[in-house]
Amino acid sequence: NDAATRAITGLVRPIEDWPEPGVTFRDITPLLSDPAGFDAVLSAMADAARGLGQLDAVLGVESRGFVLGAPMARELAVPFLPVRKEGKLPAETRAATYDLEYGTATLEIHVDALAPGARVVVVDDVLATGGTLTATQSLVEEAGATVVGHLVMIEIGALGGRGRLEPTPLTALHTY
Ligand code: PRP
Ligand code: MG
Repeated sequence: NDAATRAITGLVRPIEDWPEPGVTFRDITPLLSDPAGFDAVLSAMADAARGLGQLDAVLGVESRGFVLGAPMARELAVPFLPVRKEGKLPAETRAATYDLEYGTATLEIHVDALAPGARVVVVDDVLATGGTLTATQSLVEEAGATVVGHLVMIEIGALGGRGRLEPTPLTALHTY
């Protein structure tokens, strides 16, 4: 979708050497502060989600996945389910740990969030190594539910995240 692509290429700001030398950080804050651009991206993501067939929920991954996932769930009129970083959810949780460059990170979801057999889409801003989305998918599958697709605004192609998610489909609005 042209409007969404224009918004991403024009409004997502590359920050060189952040958070560490050699990394180009994709800063989405200028896009979020542009109502027309943000709307174009959300519309394109909602269209992509509709293409996945019947959906029971949108999962958003803390924290930037919340910013995109919650308005998408509202547009699709399905539940929004937060996947949170360790220790934030108050009721009973299940957890999945994944590798970072240095050390590990843990994501959690409430055990009663997903019914067995539910079909969900997972939303995040950026796919890099795929660790975040892979861990989220394992949380969904432990609940007996299915990720029918992953949906991101931006894919960093060189890091190979798409391959780690196979065979689950990944839709990216734009790939760097
Ligand atoms: C960033 C980004 C994605 C993830 C992508 O989140 O928002 O969630 O990294 O990386 P991966 O594909 O290698 O897992 P981060 O953990 O920095 O936290 P934030 O969303 O709270 O800023
Ligand atoms: Mg994130």
